[in-house]
Amino acid sequence: MRQDLRHVLVTGGAGFIGSNFVRYLLERGVPRVTVYDKLTYAGNRANLADIEDHPGFRFIHADICDRADVATAMRGCDAVVNFAAETHVDRSLLDADDFLRTNVVGTHVLLEAAREHGVRHFVHVSTDEVYGDVPVGESREEDPLRPRSPYSASKAGGEMMVLAAVATHGVPATITRGSNTYGPYQYPEKFIPLMITNALEGRPLPIYGDGLQVRDWIHVLDHCSGIETVLLKGKPGEAYNIGGGNPRQNLDVAREILDLLGQPHDLIQHVEDRLGHDRRYALATGKLRALGWRPQVPFEQGLRDTVEWYRERRDWWEPLRDAAFAEYYGRNYGSRAVIKAPDNR
Ligand code: NAD
Ligand code: DAU
Repeated sequence: MRQDLRHVLVTGGAGFIGSNFVRYLLERGVPRVTVYDKLTYAGNRANLADIEDHPGFRFIHADICDRADVATAMRGCDAVVNFAAETHVDRSLLDADDFLRTNVVGTHVLLEAAREHGVRHFVHVSTDEVYGDVPVGESREEDPLRPRSPYSASKAGGEMMVLAAVATHGVPATITRGSNTYGPYQYPEKFIPLMITNALEGRPLPIYGDGLQVRDWIHVLDHCSGIETVLLKGKPGEAYNIGGGNPRQNLDVAREILDLLGQPHDLIQHVEDRLGHDRRYALATGKLRALGWRPQVPFEQGLRDTVEWYRERRDWWEPLRDAAFAEYYGRNYGSRAVIKAPDNR
C-alpha cells in the first residue's frame, strides 16, 4: 500500500463490505484505520472482532450526519472511504426517510468536513443500481443515471453531491459503482445470506416473481481490491464500475445454494414480486481494468466458500435473526402472496 496512506477513515466500517475492507487495509500494512459507524441494525462490532486488538485500529460510534463528530474524526486522516449507507432496497420500499438522510445528507456532511480538513483522497462507495434496469448490454460510467427505487435514487443523490463538491470546492473525490456483492459478514436480509440461512433452518426460500432477474455477482474481496485500486489510482471527479462479471439468474443461485447444502429444491417458494423490480444489471469494467484491477474469485468457488462460512458461523448469524429481524421479515414477506412457479423451469 502506498506510503502516504498512513491513516484511513472508513465510514460504515462495521457493515458487510466496510468490515471486510478494514481487514483488507490492515492486512496490507496501512498503519492506522479508524472505523466510524452509527451501528444501525446492519452495523455490528462482531464483524470486526478479530481486528479489535490490532494496534492501528480505532472505533468511533457516531452518525455521519453529525457535523461535530465527523469533524473530530476526520482530523489527521489522509483518506476517507465512505461505505456508510442504508443499503436494502426492500426496506427503502417500506420507508425511505433514513435512506435520504444518510445516503444524501450524510454524504454532504462528510464532503464538507473533507474539504475543511484537506483530506487527500475521498472514495465514495456507490452502486450499479444508479444506472437502473439494463435490459441489454452493459452500463458504462458515462451512461445516464436512471435510478428506479428509493434506495438507488438516494445513492444517485449522494453521487451528485460528490460531483458538486469536486466541481465547486475541488474535493479530491472519486466514486465506485459496485455490483451485487457476497461473502462473509453479510447481514442475512440480503439475497445470498437469506437463502443460505433459511435453507440451514429448513425454511422456505422466497423468490420474487419468476426469479429470472439477473444480478452480476462479485466476491467481497474483489470489491475491496477494486475500491483499493480507485483509492490509489482513481482520478478526482471520475466514477469507476466494479463488476464481478458473473451474471446469474436468482433462481439458479438459489438452486445452487440448496445443492451445496444438500437441501431439496422444493424449499423454493415463488412470492409476489418486489415493486419496481429491476430485471437486470450489467457493468462494463474496462475503465477499472485499465488501472490494473482484475477480479480473482470465480463465482462457484466464492459461493461454496460463503455457504461453508455461514454453515460454520451460526454463532455470528443466529443472534442477528432476532425479534427485530422477525418484525422486518413479517412486514416485508408477511403479506406477499405465494405465486405459481414459471412453467419453463
Ligand atoms: P451494510 O448495510 O452491511 O452496512 C452499512 C453500514 O453503514 C452499517 O455498519 C451501518 O451501521 C452504517 N451506517 C448506516 N447509516 C449510518 C450513519 N448515518 N452514520 C454512520 N454509519 C452508518 O452495507 P454494505 O452492503 O456493506 O454496503 C456498503 C456500501 O456499499 C453502501 O454504500 C452500499 O450502497 C454499497 N454497495 C453495496 C453492495 C452490496 O451488494 N452489498 C453493492 C454495491 C455497493
Ligand atoms: O447491485 C448492487 C446492490 O445489490 C447494492 O447497491 C445493494 O445495497 C444491495 O442490497 C444489492 O441490491 P439488490 O436489490 O440487487 O440485492 P438483494 O440481495 O436485495 O436482491 C438480489 C436479487 O434477489 C434481486 O433481484 C431481488 C431478489 N430477491 C431478494 C430477496 C431479499 C428475492 O428474489 N428474494 C428475496 O427475498
